[in-house]
Amino acid sequence: MNILILGSGGREHTFAWKIAQSSLCKSLYVAPGNSGTAEVATNVNIGVTDFEAIKTLVLDKGINMVVVGPEDPLVQGIHDFFLNDNQLKKVAVIGPEKAASELEGSKEFAKEFMFRHNIPTAAYKSFDASNVEEGYAFLETLNPPYVLKADGLAAGKGVLILQDLKEAKTELKSMLVDAKFGAASAKVVIEEFLDGIELSCFVLADGKNYKILPTAKDYKRIGEGDTGLNTGGMGAVSPVPFATPEFLNKIEERIVKPTISGLQKDNLPYKGFVFIGIIKVGDDPKVIEYNVRMGDPETEVVLPRLKNDLVEIFQAIANQTLDKIDIKIDERAATTIMLVSGGYPEAYEKGNEIVGVDSITDSIAFHAGAKIDNGKIVTSGGRVMAITSYGNSYQEAIKKSYQSIEKLYFDKMYYRKDIGFDL
Ligand code: AMP
Ligand code: GLY
Repeated sequence: MNILILGSGGREHTFAWKIAQSSLCKSLYVAPGNSGTAEVATNVNIGVTDFEAIKTLVLDKGINMVVVGPEDPLVQGIHDFFLNDNQLKKVAVIGPEKAASELEGSKEFAKEFMFRHNIPTAAYKSFDASNVEEGYAFLETLNPPYVLKADGLAAGKGVLILQDLKEAKTELKSMLVDAKFGAASAKVVIEEFLDGIELSCFVLADGKNYKILPTAKDYKRIGEGDTGLNTGGMGAVSPVPFATPEFLNKIEERIVKPTISGLQKDNLPYKGFVFIGIIKVGDDPKVIEYNVRMGDPETEVVLPRLKNDLVEIFQAIANQTLDKIDIKIDERAATTIMLVSGGYPEAYEKGNEIVGVDSITDSIAFHAGAKIDNGKIVTSGGRVMAITSYGNSYQEAIKKSYQSIEKLYFDKMYYRKDIGFDL
């Protein structure tokens, strides 16, 4: 079959790398893709939310399956766009429909879903510009730190954690009244602060059945020791050492099962990945957030551990036969270290040549913000490349990634040297 992947990051290069290994895949396209996807697929320069251009491409190339990488097209309803079009409705779309994508598109929707289905999560209340005063009063009933979340998509920047009550009130006003995050913060969810260690849980869903993929932990802060600004993710480890079988069982019983049955009860069609951000509070898991896609850089450690043919899994998702799939996982650990452009997540340079990619033999270099320019690989984004390695332990895998990174260079390259430090 002919397959199109939407997206251009390390996650999408990993999808392309994995799908290209499938005998079920005839032609593989990525829109818009990067220098890494160009090695295993054909890049097409179309934006991920340009639905009309995507339609033309799908019809021109006889594409049978579309795998959606990022959340934007899902929240904008790409799956519904395909279902509502006579020429496209037979094309399999991997990613939930618009109504279910609100689990990521609206924090308030996600909180209401969790409370409706008794899924453990932080207590909360939501506010808009009409009841800011009530928001202040609610903050006064909480203990610090205060957690303020823009309701809508804010490119990972919409969550503020503040120690000071006065500052929390000022920020609440700036989000609701001064549109700090634009339309995304027209509503704000104020949450109880949960103290614990986080992990990411990935579930495949076909609307009826589910399968759980390996857990991963990502490192979101730019600085060592988890300090400084939030990023998309600076590295990841899979499996997560503290996710014992007992803890994983709690996640499945208390969170995964009610999530999947809740989607059915609420009539929210879901064919795709459910990414559940979990925090371990004491010995109990609580949900921090849902995402309706795979994580990045978690994909770069989860898919390399999956032994199954990914296209076969996607076909089972499309046909609602996931129950027939036996998920097989590589026993080895996988880790990835993200190389970023100096200055990221604030201003950074682009267009710097990346040298040494071909000399990497013990790791896999998944390209992210990297493109081909005049035959050279150059930086084109903040997160540039994820260097993934396997090991008999996560320590061994991390060591291998750091050894591989020694062979790579671009001007102002930065990476965290402490991935895994807290495990
Ligand atoms: P989110 O976008 O909801 O995942 O939030 C971003 C980050 O903020 C999470 O990865 C957590 O580290 C932190 N966070 C979010 N909600 C809470 C909470 N209720 N308590 C503590 N930390 C939180
Ligand atoms: N690495 C976190 C995310 O993809 O949202």
